[in-house]
Amino acid sequence: MSSHHPLPKAELHLHIEGTLEPELAFALAERNGIDLPYATPDELRSAYAFSDLQSFLDLYYRLTAVLRTEQDFADLAEAYLERAAAHGVRHAEIFFDPQAHTARGVDIGTVVRGLSQALDRSEERHGISTQLILSFLRDLPAEDALKTLVEAEPYLHRISAVGLDSAEVGHPPAKFTQVYAAAKAAGLRLVAHAGEEGPPSYISEALDLLGVERIDHGIRCLEDPELVARLVAEQIPLTVCPLSNVRLRCVDRLEEHPLPAMLEAGLLVTVNSDDPSYFGGYVEDNYQGLQRALGLTDDQLRLLARNSFLAAFVDDERRAELLAELDAPSRSSILG
Ligand code: ADE
Ligand code: ZN
Repeated sequence: MSSHHPLPKAELHLHIEGTLEPELAFALAERNGIDLPYATPDELRSAYAFSDLQSFLDLYYRLTAVLRTEQDFADLAEAYLERAAAHGVRHAEIFFDPQAHTARGVDIGTVVRGLSQALDRSEERHGISTQLILSFLRDLPAEDALKTLVEAEPYLHRISAVGLDSAEVGHPPAKFTQVYAAAKAAGLRLVAHAGEEGPPSYISEALDLLGVERIDHGIRCLEDPELVARLVAEQIPLTVCPLSNVRLRCVDRLEEHPLPAMLEAGLLVTVNSDDPSYFGGYVEDNYQGLQRALGLTDDQLRLLARNSFLAAFVDDERRAELLAELDAPSRSSILG
């Protein structure tokens, strides 16, 4: 990130487990008496070379082993919020993967209470409003997702939405129709990863069968002009993660990222960091990377920030507050 003052923005696609920096992983491993198969944080960092989504997920799930106590989850979230504030984030909707923890014997309550310790004081400490999105692992059976939703019942007051992540290809949204209906009945908002590695048809399925309001990633929509027309007409927000797409080889180089084409098509695009510890940058690094590699103008970056507030699951009052901050005259010219 340069010294340039970052635009105020919302982050809508961020996996809290993907913010685990190597140094914190080592500190938590030591606190919990866990051996990591790396000698130093730098040696771990050098393992962050991925050939596709699965090669990343293998390391991402393996490193969750260091997260055991409420304090661990609180420390993880606090470290993210501190960085997010420096990147101009004013509102964050944060994914967590309960099944990555319950599978290791860590109760979902430990996860939610720990994260909430940090989130509950985030407005006061960092000026960042927050929400949690419970994400189901799509490569596990649908029954496991239903069981997870039941386990989450005591904590639903702290959870605003459900999502769907992990290995995409071969695990179409249709598999989760029942659990999404149950989540909706419980009053939760709905999102899903679709069209990251998977085909455009998964995006349509997520809309038609799951009833999602936003699509996470969605970059492969461009392969289907009819789908693009629909996403534009319905102004379905897409939470795009450019540095992630390059690191997971969904896009060869940032210079070839389809985001400009997506804006040109009139899609409601937002820019997010996905798993910033693993992908070489937090959210403002994604904004600046787009500007550097693709020549996006300041006005285009401002439009992306505005879109992030339009796509956020906030009430009218908070949305107006966020938008006003983006339009405040002190943002431009001398102080900007
Ligand atoms: N889990 C964490 N990051 C993810 C991504 N980019 N796609 C699918 N599952 C994920
Ligand atoms: Zn993601």
